[in-house]
Amino acid sequence: MSNPTSNPDSTPASNLGSTPTIESILHEDRLFQPPAELAAQAKFKSFSDYEAIYAKAKADPAAFWGELAQQELHWFEPWKQVLDWRPPFAKWFEGGKINISYNCLDRHLTTWRKNKAALIWEGEPGDSRTLTYAQLHREVCQMANVLKELGVQKGDRVGIYMPMIPEAAIAMLACARIGAPHSVVFGGFSAEALRDRLVDAQAKLVITADGGFRKDKVVALKEQVDNALANNAAPSVQNVLVVQRTKEPIIMETGRDHWWHELQTNASADCPAEPMNSEDMLFILYTSGSTGKPKGVVHTTAGYNLYTHVTTQWTFDLQDTDIYWCTADVGWITGHSYIVYGPLSNGATTVMYEGVPRPSNPGCFWDVIEKYGVTIFYTAPTAIRTFIKMGDQHPKARNLSSLRILGTVGEPINPEAWMWYHTVIGKERCPIVDTWWQTETGGFMITPLPGATPTKPGSATRPFPGILAEVVDLDGNPVADNEGGYLVITHPWPSMLRTVYGDDDRFRRTYWEHIAPKDGQYLYFAGDGARRDEDGYFWIMGRVDDVISVSGHRLGTMEIESALVSHPAVAEAAVVGRPDEVKGEDVVAFITLEGTYRGSDTLKSELKQHVVAEIGAIARPSDIRFADALPKTRSGKIMRRLLRTLASGQEVSGDTSTLEDRSVLDALREDA
Ligand code: WT7
Repeated sequence: MSNPTSNPDSTPASNLGSTPTIESILHEDRLFQPPAELAAQAKFKSFSDYEAIYAKAKADPAAFWGELAQQELHWFEPWKQVLDWRPPFAKWFEGGKINISYNCLDRHLTTWRKNKAALIWEGEPGDSRTLTYAQLHREVCQMANVLKELGVQKGDRVGIYMPMIPEAAIAMLACARIGAPHSVVFGGFSAEALRDRLVDAQAKLVITADGGFRKDKVVALKEQVDNALANNAAPSVQNVLVVQRTKEPIIMETGRDHWWHELQTNASADCPAEPMNSEDMLFILYTSGSTGKPKGVVHTTAGYNLYTHVTTQWTFDLQDTDIYWCTADVGWITGHSYIVYGPLSNGATTVMYEGVPRPSNPGCFWDVIEKYGVTIFYTAPTAIRTFIKMGDQHPKARNLSSLRILGTVGEPINPEAWMWYHTVIGKERCPIVDTWWQTETGGFMITPLPGATPTKPGSATRPFPGILAEVVDLDGNPVADNEGGYLVITHPWPSMLRTVYGDDDRFRRTYWEHIAPKDGQYLYFAGDGARRDEDGYFWIMGRVDDVISVSGHRLGTMEIESALVSHPAVAEAAVVGRPDEVKGEDVVAFITLEGTYRGSDTLKSELKQHVVAEIGAIARPSDIRFADALPKTRSGKIMRRLLRTLASGQEVSGDTSTLEDRSVLDALREDA
């Protein structure tokens, strides 16, 4: 039986979650000035520097981006027009020819950076590797040639399903080099989820590894690829390129599967970067929305290159001596923009770490910082909260004095976690850049500049130069200071998503039609609630749609519901987020069962396992509650607000007059 939940992508704006209110937001009066020493050496040294560049960009965005594109990037051919905006479709730098792999590699080889460390990699079992720009270039060229040999041509999509090893970055850059858009699928996703994405992208080849090390376990990545491709379920895939990592035994299918290390031996290191049109697709990255099927967010070449380049440089005040570390996985946009493309385009040294915080290794992040003298450290609130729990003794036992800038991303950071980060990790001398952005935005949208913007714990502060952000009501009218509303972007920016892969209509509905166009001007709707305070600082209040964030990972509740109802025992499922101290949110599922099935602990475990198999471990419900019926409105819509309240163990108050059958509520409360 299918879920009767409506499809929010196609419903009018009035069906969005309730307008955010500000009661839940803590009033925060603390203000932290950028450290004087850092500010003195930074590109933007004072708040008036920020305000000046912001005003300049706002006055003429096209001139602003055009100037930067010329200064900061290499072009094979200059563009003819900076921006062609036919709402909601934007084209940036039309007529230009460019290659992001060239900008990340080749252009550094003619400078002293040739022998600078491009990538420092720390493996989970303690192995490590450093690749200079020259070495990285060599391997990227070799892999690009191998892809060509295996029949990949410009425009063909390539799936990447990898652990956090250098070859993940090499694979992305190799695809970009030959103009084959990549679609990276996070290694924690299941075979089912992988298959869906490969099919949607019509990938011609998959790059994977025999396995990976994650949380003290070996993850059998190649076996998942085999499962995803079994029974010709993803017929577009003709070849699989396998990197050797764990050396665990795997099955290699003759003709289809190829070892990278074998093909690399004879691969030429000469592979000129393909001159790409500015608007040629660089990659697809799937992300969850309100509807069941993940969306393929499309990013193109030039605008994405420019925006990730400039935001990395300014937001982290990047200097040539920096050792920069972003702890994300390349399977997410953060890894794309701020492990690989942004840092390498700037010729920076980027650290890549295979491990994740876990009780068996409570000092792992601090060890990496000490070992490599990391100067810029970028992580997520959920990781910070995990480390708070594991105790201050771990960071205190390491030398963290190399750090100069800290960053956070993924969800609103609670002021307690911010203060801990500031004092215990930053020793009160490192500015914190709280960067608000999304898979769809490609790069930072609202963020401090570390030498210029005074920070307030919990606020992402001000928009990046060139970004016009507003908080509006459903009619697109700006709301008053400190009043909750919907966060929108009112002017296109270079790294904005161009469409949803293969579905322009869904692109239009999801991002551009919830909020009424204002005076013919289209507003990009981010899906977040926010307020702006009297200083013009933005406070993100979280998603207003049916998207939840578990450890900073974005999950559509409907996606998990679809997974649950695909189990024979489940008649109906409603999934909500429940606040969790470390993860931010937890998945809680309310379930009604088919005919003869009875709820039991065994069934609960089976259903949890089923979700893991359908989506991946990140979506595993932490709590499953069986019910005779779900609370619905008279028009048949599940009342999620009620379920959220119940899931968090609170009393249901407020208006329940639209509830069709009050006894349902009583029954659910009892089960809790
Ligand atoms: C959603 C986007 C962008 C990389 C990681 C997540 C939330 C992200 C912040 C922040 C408050 C944040 C928003 C946003 N979010 N950064 N600094 N403060 N909320 O990318 O998976 O596309 O998720 O993450 O809700 O819409 P994503």
